[in-house]
Amino acid sequence: MRVRYPSMKHHFARVAPRYRQMRDLDVTAVRRIARIIRQLAKSEFRIVILDVGSGTGRYLESVLAESALETTHRCCALRYDVMREMLGRTSASSRSPCRSIKSVVGLAECLPFAPDTIDAVLTFNAIHHFNAASFLAGVGRVLRPGGKLIIYTRTPEQNRCTVWGTFFPRFAEKEDRLLTETELAAALDQTGAFGRAEPCAIPWKVETSLSRLIDQARGGAYSTFEFYSRLEFEEAVQVFERRVVEHFKDPSRIMVQNDHLLAVAAARSMS
Ligand SMILES: C[S@@+](CC[C@H](N)C(=O)[O-])C[C@H]1O[C@@H](n2cnc3c(N)ncnc32)[C@H](O)[C@@H]1O
Repeated sequence: MRVRYPSMKHHFARVAPRYRQMRDLDVTAVRRIARIIRQLAKSEFRIVILDVGSGTGRYLESVLAESALETTHRCCALRYDVMREMLGRTSASSRSPCRSIKSVVGLAECLPFAPDTIDAVLTFNAIHHFNAASFLAGVGRVLRPGGKLIIYTRTPEQNRCTVWGTFFPRFAEKEDRLLTETELAAALDQTGAFGRAEPCAIPWKVETSLSRLIDQARGGAYSTFEFYSRLEFEEAVQVFERRVVEHFKDPSRIMVQNDHLLAVAAARSMS
């Protein structure tokens, strides 16, 4: 099994303290996922939700807050990530606004949970960091029959259309880890553990500014920037800045497209 994370260890250790502020949050996706979680909670007395590659857990917190489950005792939520620095050093229960969220350190490719014990596995902006086949096989094992796998990611096409893919030199070519919709569907299919996935594009826009974008690039908001040499990166930032200034009327107020893909699959009964 090829585990990819060691190459990005230093990246995530470096960005961990500022990650939450550097990345934007897709509220449309949060609302949609919260609806799915609420639906699952209707049929279960208590639900267990696992966010794999959770990082700081910002999406999990928002989904729980939106679904209003964190105010009940009917939900156990786990943020799971290989990087202790991303999870934070102190326990989630003392830091997080959602006191019910626990943190577990581990690899997405080796989920340390008993079979059929999880109701929903979520993963945001992370599946391209994993060995997808090992991760999906593990999810098929830990999800209870009827449990939901919810994948939020960007396809290479969507990545190409972001402000980075459009204006930052070589950003889209260098990011070769993202799965196409077809590749994701095939990877899910190969496990034999899920019913037909229902992928849908989530279009969302975010208002930003040139200075925030430059901060994001320099701060390493996307691990893609690790694929540039120092000199290449500095030259790319200059070209990016020039292109953005030429393209947008007011660089202090820029509306950018940031579409993502949401794929939801239900776990089959394996018996
Ligand atoms: C781009 S970040 C996304 C974090 C979070 N889901 C979010 O959207 O804010 C990817 C996360 O995946 C984690 N990660 C990378 N490879 C991993 C692996 N093999 N197993 C578990 N976590 C991994 C990283 O440490 C990082 O926190």
